[in-house]
Amino acid sequence: MSVLTLRGISQEFGGLRALDGIDLDIEAGEIFGIIGPNGAGKTTLFNILTGIYYATEGEYYFKDQVMKRVPPFRVARMGIARTY
Ligand SMILES: Nc1ncnc2c1ncn2[C@@H]1O[C@H](COP(=O)(O)OP(=O)(O)OP(=O)(O)O)[C@@H](O)[C@H]1O
Ligand SMILES: [Mg+2]
Repeated sequence: MSVLTLRGISQEFGGLRALDGIDLDIEAGEIFGIIGPNGAGKTTLFNILTGIYYATEGEYYFKDQVMKRVPPFRVARMGIARTY
């Protein structure tokens, strides 16, 4: 079962397309790494998954719930946490 699903996640900052249609399925219990060079968009993706930014396009689902404009404190209560 997928615990975290991303469909077409894209993020634009002005004219810069930092993320372009990210699709992911992460299974419960899976350890999933995101790698890429400086500026690849890793932090931007984590910012979207934790409600810091709302994706320009696409959606993500956590435990089958669609996460549309869910603010950071609600994301945290649902069980998604990050460290800096
Ligand atoms: N708030 C913002 N406003 C404008 N551009 C941004 C913003 N945040 C990130 N960017 C741009 O989006 C792109 C992706 O940046 P991001 O910080 O997500 O990359 P990263 O993979 O985390 O890089 P690093 O390995 O250096 O941490 C870069 O071109 C960056 O300059
Ligand atoms: Mg980063």
